[in-house]
Amino acid sequence: MFTLISPAKINLFLRIIRRRDDGFHELASLFQTISLFDRLTFERAKQDQLTCTDPSIPCDHRNLVYKALTLFRQKTQIAHSYHIHIEKKIPAEAGLGGGSSNAATTLYALNELSNRPASLEQLQSWAAEIGSDVPFFLTQGTTYCTGRGDIMRPVKAPSPQSICIVKPEWGLSTPAVYKNLKVSELIHRDPLIALKNHQEGLPEYFNDLEMSAFQISPKTEALQKRLLNSKYKTVVLSGSGSAFFCILTGKETPIIDPQLSLYQAEFTNRKANQWYTST
Ligand code: C5P
Repeated sequence: MFTLISPAKINLFLRIIRRRDDGFHELASLFQTISLFDRLTFERAKQDQLTCTDPSIPCDHRNLVYKALTLFRQKTQIAHSYHIHIEKKIPAEAGLGGGSSNAATTLYALNELSNRPASLEQLQSWAAEIGSDVPFFLTQGTTYCTGRGDIMRPVKAPSPQSICIVKPEWGLSTPAVYKNLKVSELIHRDPLIALKNHQEGLPEYFNDLEMSAFQISPKTEALQKRLLNSKYKTVVLSGSGSAFFCILTGKETPIIDPQLSLYQAEFTNRKANQWYTST
């Protein structure tokens, strides 16, 4: 049995540049992995089987892990079958990249279990066939992404930072948030200046998808206001939501609400030639 953790991500900033002819959006975003993890186990089996601790997650061809397994076999012509089990901690429909991370972790694991037939660069290019965010999870965890998210420039990891992820009981659909977005109404901020500021230790956090997500879901905007009123200083939607990340200052008023899931986490990165570890 082979076990790997699978981290969540946040977008420290997310700028949408334009809608492309292929329906995707050109973006410029600083992605960061965080210490909120799923755990995946891989075991050779007579036939494929996918199981998950969360009954609401589909365990068939719709699951990106299944897509990663099929794609890896197709690309390498290595015909092994696996039982893959997902211990789910990362909430779904949250903008935290849980499904994409699971798919990237699967590509990495299968490559290890097959004596590395593919380079990391090959795995990253295969990952882009699964989804826009999947290649990022094969980097070391702090990456400036452009294109539809698949053109990647690894950058220096930020200073350690405690954050809180706040996930309401409702989720948001990524395609719906992108579809509702009016690019012409966005503030023109230069993403390269935002990146430079981050690298110089003067981070700005923002997300161009907030306006669209809040139009679709006013209660998501109300939650942001509530967190700001509870002295959370930085409260930014992660990806297409519905989770927010909050940079902790220690001055926050504790929130106790059964309708919210709160996860304390840190920024995390992996070393070259080593997968993510939970310590
Ligand atoms: O690539 P992925 O399958 O994760 O994208 C899900 C949906 O999010 C796409 O179908 C598209 O509607 C939207 N999207 C987008 N531009 C991106 C990434 C995603 O419009 N750069």
